[in-house]
Amino acid sequence: MSTEQLEKRWWHDAVVYQIYPRSFNDSNGDGIGDIPGIIEKLDYIQTLGANVIWLSPVYKSPMDDNGYDISGYREIAPEFGTMADIEKLLFEADKRGIKIVMDLVVNHTSDEHPWFLESKSSRDNPKRDWYIWKDPKQDGSEPNNWESFFKPKAWTLDETTGQYYLHLFSNKQPDLNWANPEVREAVYDMMHFWLKKGLGGFRMDVINMIGKPSDYPDATIFDSGVAGWEHWSNNLLVHQYLREMHDKVLRHYDVLTVGETPFTTTLDGRYYSHPERNELSMIFQFEHVGIDREEHNAVKKDFDLVQYKEIMSRWQEDLYQRGWNSVYWSNHDQPRTVSRYGSDSPEYRIISAKMLGTVLHMMSGTPYIYQGEEIGMTNKHFNNIEEFNDLMAKFHYQKMIERGVSNDDAIEFLNYFSRDHARVPVQWDTKDHAGFTTGTPWLPVNENYVEINAEQAVNDEDSIYHHYRQLIQLRQGEEYGDVVVYGNHTLLDPQDGEVYAYIRSSGEKSLLIIANFTDSTLQRTYQYGVKQVVLNNYDDAPSSIHELVLKPYQAIIIDIE
Ligand code: GLC
Ligand code: CA
Repeated sequence: MSTEQLEKRWWHDAVVYQIYPRSFNDSNGDGIGDIPGIIEKLDYIQTLGANVIWLSPVYKSPMDDNGYDISGYREIAPEFGTMADIEKLLFEADKRGIKIVMDLVVNHTSDEHPWFLESKSSRDNPKRDWYIWKDPKQDGSEPNNWESFFKPKAWTLDETTGQYYLHLFSNKQPDLNWANPEVREAVYDMMHFWLKKGLGGFRMDVINMIGKPSDYPDATIFDSGVAGWEHWSNNLLVHQYLREMHDKVLRHYDVLTVGETPFTTTLDGRYYSHPERNELSMIFQFEHVGIDREEHNAVKKDFDLVQYKEIMSRWQEDLYQRGWNSVYWSNHDQPRTVSRYGSDSPEYRIISAKMLGTVLHMMSGTPYIYQGEEIGMTNKHFNNIEEFNDLMAKFHYQKMIERGVSNDDAIEFLNYFSRDHARVPVQWDTKDHAGFTTGTPWLPVNENYVEINAEQAVNDEDSIYHHYRQLIQLRQGEEYGDVVVYGNHTLLDPQDGEVYAYIRSSGEKSLLIIANFTDSTLQRTYQYGVKQVVLNNYDDAPSSIHELVLKPYQAIIIDIE
């Protein structure tokens, strides 16, 4: 199929920068990042070249899960600012050509949301059916055997009314009942409220889980994922709800929508993102961030580049002309990219972070950059369980200890994978607390801020930040934009476990991307004619590509004949 068949959309060549507001920039010294703090840094994001910001939740919330537990959809959490601040952010971002995408968290609310307070007040409250209430089994136990991401069980008993409510996440995050049309209308109404303010779209939190089968059957799959997932993820109901949402809300605006969708295959990806299905612009798939661990059971596995390449190229190819990809290394739920897939040693941190950026940003789809990734922020070392903040880290710790894992091994696992790594404040400069706050940060900063910080990166032409800037320019520039955004994708040497090489082609243009994922010098052979080297993370020009010597973590982009 030719590129003409895919109708062009503004978000095809967009680059998204994700902000986790609590950890981004604190403007008033209370130790918590806030909206005015984001406004102060818009120029930094504009210079990088990102033209969309995805803002993790800033709504009113008791912050059990740092804002993914919302108690007021049309209110801003006071620690983040006011409605006037959000409007100012939209205005200031717009001046710089940046759109704001907000998080839409509607699989669940907070248990402190007025809807839930009403719902749980009595069995005959008009909002009872807004959430999922079920009678206990004969023996008083849970209605079925589903598990939760953050707790052993997905059900909590409400003593007053004698029924259990469903929560796929914490017990402070009760699931909304999407089968109830009133719930759906309330959500659509709220979406209009925000879109009318001029939002660029929504990132939809665990949106593939909103459809629950009406018979609430027991789970039968226990060896992968949270028990129950085969029933509540990617079923027919979610697609139906999304098409209704599109019809009632989304089609009235020209917006980017990205669904967060664990447990998806490329076929699901096509269902969600094929333009003619009128569901979403794109989704976040999870296959590639699951390859080095079994998340649910908190077990580490080795990173396997062959498998990684297989996953990424399958998504690139299967969605080509039949949907749209998002591409990401990291987000607020993942460890730091360079520590995970590259090397955070002083010797290779910068070079490997540039390599990883190159591999991702030359792919087709809309790239997402997680705050701090563009300066190569690393995982932080945590000494004991008390130092972790995230509720998932605590849950995983408990599970590991119960399974007989030693304290040291459990802490080691979390030092690889805890979501806290992403939530450590952004390192802005060499001032106290990395310039993030003048007060005491809600989560201590990484001590390596003295070397790794945005001020240094902006002032150093050879920094990761400037490498990312160049990658974005390639995507959005005249010369290579079309091939980077719309070209087809061919993986080379799938069995090569050290080098990731692929070709992007569109019309006359072809780019060859070659990346060494190891800290060794390697030799490889490529039989192509070289027009020019477009980007290289080492200074000296590469040798001939017929007998290419690849330095540790070297990544080059070559315009080939
Ligand atoms: C998503 C969010 C995560 C949150 C969860 C529950 O996975 O990315 O941060 O904890 O949903 O809302
Ligand atoms: Ca603040």
